[in-house]
Amino acid sequence: MTGLVIANWKMNASSAAVKVFADKWHGMPALTGVETVICPPAPYLSAVAAAMPAMGLGAQDVSAHGVGAFTGEVSAEMLRDLGCQWAIVGHSERRTYHGESNQSVAAKASAVASLGLNPVVCVGEALADRDQGNHEQVVSEQLRASLDAVDPEKLVVAYEPIWAIGTGVTASADQANQMHGVIRAGLHDMYGRESSQVRVIYGGSVKADNAGELFACDEIDGALVGGASLEAESFWKIAQAASAGSQ
Ligand code: 13P
Repeated sequence: MTGLVIANWKMNASSAAVKVFADKWHGMPALTGVETVICPPAPYLSAVAAAMPAMGLGAQDVSAHGVGAFTGEVSAEMLRDLGCQWAIVGHSERRTYHGESNQSVAAKASAVASLGLNPVVCVGEALADRDQGNHEQVVSEQLRASLDAVDPEKLVVAYEPIWAIGTGVTASADQANQMHGVIRAGLHDMYGRESSQVRVIYGGSVKADNAGELFACDEIDGALVGGASLEAESFWKIAQAASAGSQ
């Protein structure tokens, strides 16, 4: 399976920053055997598409609705029109700060997939869940409730333990690999043999210096990268590690 490395810039970007990133990216050797995607804030989607046409383009969120009186929302159709092939849904920051439920995440994932885009559905446990030994159950339930009639060929699941996001504390390769195995088993229950088409990627303090160890794990098909994706060279190094891991 080709490695997939997705940059989630979160609410960080400017026209100048897109240009700096693109200039540096184009100065680095082209990578093979890895798919790279950038998810900038929505106002910068077109700028990223124009500056880096060979890069996959994705959104950080999407509306579950098709069209109409939904002030501030952006539909999957609009994203497709702008050249997006990907949309992150159910990121823990959306679940925490915007009260997104598993049900609304499932509706968003379906809206994305029904238009032929790839939903990147995020799941992950809080530290308290892990401390209490409930992490497998919490993530399995979240996964099942966040997916509804999504074509497995389009689907990407991102395992992002909340305690590892932006903290500098990454899950160890063993912890991540073990949870990816739990997610794979859940996907198999839902999709049967077709579940093998789903890519399961890891997010949470992925950096150039820990990416190789994570990508060496059997169950880890790529990464969803926050802070370390803001700078072209560090994102390139992570993508390079995925390309080496996939060979
Ligand atoms: P960091 O890589 O900054 O920990 O963020 C992870 C994340 O939330 C990616 O979606």
